[in-house]
Amino acid sequence: LESGCLSIIVLGASGDLAKKKTFPALFNLYRQGFLCPSEVHIFGYARTKISDDELRERIRGYLLHGKDKSDIPEDVSEFLQLVKYVSGSYDSKEGFLLLDQKIAEHEFFKKSHEGTSRRLFYLALPPSVYPSVCKMIKQYSMNKSDLGGWTRIVVEKPFGKDLESAEHLSTQLGELFDEPQIYRIDHYLGKELVQNLLVLRFANRFFLPLWNRDNIANIQIVFREDFGTEGRGGYFDEYGIIRDIIQNHLLQVLCLVAVEKPVSLKPEHIRDEKVKVLRSVLPIRDEDVVLGQYEGYTDDPTVPDNSKTPTFATVILHIHNERWEGVPFILKAGKALNSRKAEIRVQFKDVPGDIYKCQKQGRNEFVIRLQPREAMYMKLTVKQPGLEMQTVQSELDLSYGQRYQGTTIPEAYERLILDTIRGDQQHFVRRDELKVAWEIFTPLLHRIDKGEMPVIPYKPGSRGPEAADELLAKAGYVQTHGYIWIPPTLT
Ligand code: BG6
Repeated sequence: LESGCLSIIVLGASGDLAKKKTFPALFNLYRQGFLCPSEVHIFGYARTKISDDELRERIRGYLLHGKDKSDIPEDVSEFLQLVKYVSGSYDSKEGFLLLDQKIAEHEFFKKSHEGTSRRLFYLALPPSVYPSVCKMIKQYSMNKSDLGGWTRIVVEKPFGKDLESAEHLSTQLGELFDEPQIYRIDHYLGKELVQNLLVLRFANRFFLPLWNRDNIANIQIVFREDFGTEGRGGYFDEYGIIRDIIQNHLLQVLCLVAVEKPVSLKPEHIRDEKVKVLRSVLPIRDEDVVLGQYEGYTDDPTVPDNSKTPTFATVILHIHNERWEGVPFILKAGKALNSRKAEIRVQFKDVPGDIYKCQKQGRNEFVIRLQPREAMYMKLTVKQPGLEMQTVQSELDLSYGQRYQGTTIPEAYERLILDTIRGDQQHFVRRDELKVAWEIFTPLLHRIDKGEMPVIPYKPGSRGPEAADELLAKAGYVQTHGYIWIPPTLT
């Protein structure tokens, strides 16, 4: 692992993303010993004119969220001492020269250290300012150490609104930085069970022969939230649920569920396979889409009264290749539904010539619960214990809370930021991946934007529009009757 001076610069330091995700993730890395105080300095950069201490105070509030504030743990204070603040605008030479000077002072101060100088710019900013900020970094704030080192930038969606705008943004960034310097975060790739997908699929003999169209009837990738767009209506209304969740988070999960085995575990080999599977996705048909908007969505003052932006969508994708032809991939996401969870549900076909058919509650399913309460369970038919010869649906259950007691599952951002420091791009979206993802969804998004697709109202706290369940049944999903999975309780 590299050593030497590491400067982490959080641009947009006073914004929501920085306070809620970036700084807490940095703190957790620090606490676990991944950010060594003799090497690391963290710079917050934003337009607001505040002092180092004011920024520290704001971050402290988030680090201690829900904890007793009268008893501040020592590590919080130590961590905050690593944080400095620089104020400046996102398109001014002065601001970025000042930033460069502050970083250089820190690098000089820590020079006694062997090794290189590393600069990580985390853009916790709206994408509209990415091009100007990147230009400023490139001109005034790059690592110039003759000992080597690097400059990397971390960006997060929305990367454009459609294929054209996304490509435009990619070209602007691509003119300033090489692909190995750009880390496009999709935080779903940092979730524990998403990171487990390739291990599960390719390290287990169980799955190898079953993971294909001969055995699998359909696959659902589902995201549900039990709250609306509270406080984010302004952003959300411009994007809608497909751009917010499906085109990125759920499609990334689909890639890992569907990819062929990569040549090796090298990040580029894995990303090559992801691009390949995305290229095999067929154009989306209107009849494979159901859109919804929860009643009351437009009551949000930041949302126009006549908004037709979907807050719910079911979209069925078909992959045209040898493994998956004919298997619907049902991507579903919704806000203000009756529960909060994200899961992958692989439903297997019926047993041929099944002599138990008339007694069965349902098909075999393999469910990977991404959140909350990470778990994976296989639903299978067994004999009901007792004197009668009855069958019942049961499960083989690997619930993380129970199986890995005492293990803390890291936050997605924590893991991804560590990867950016280590230079591992496996869990980041490559430019060509992003382009194909937009190619898949852009025609549909344009039709939605023009008001050409119906958007069905649904009650907040419901399952979403009934038409979505009908589409699910049409795609061949068979509901299990009289069975619910009950996560095991801790013993
Ligand atoms: C974000 C979306 O990318 O992901 C939000 O913009 C959504 O709308 C969030 O709430 C969900 O993330 P998680 O990790 O809570 O599932």
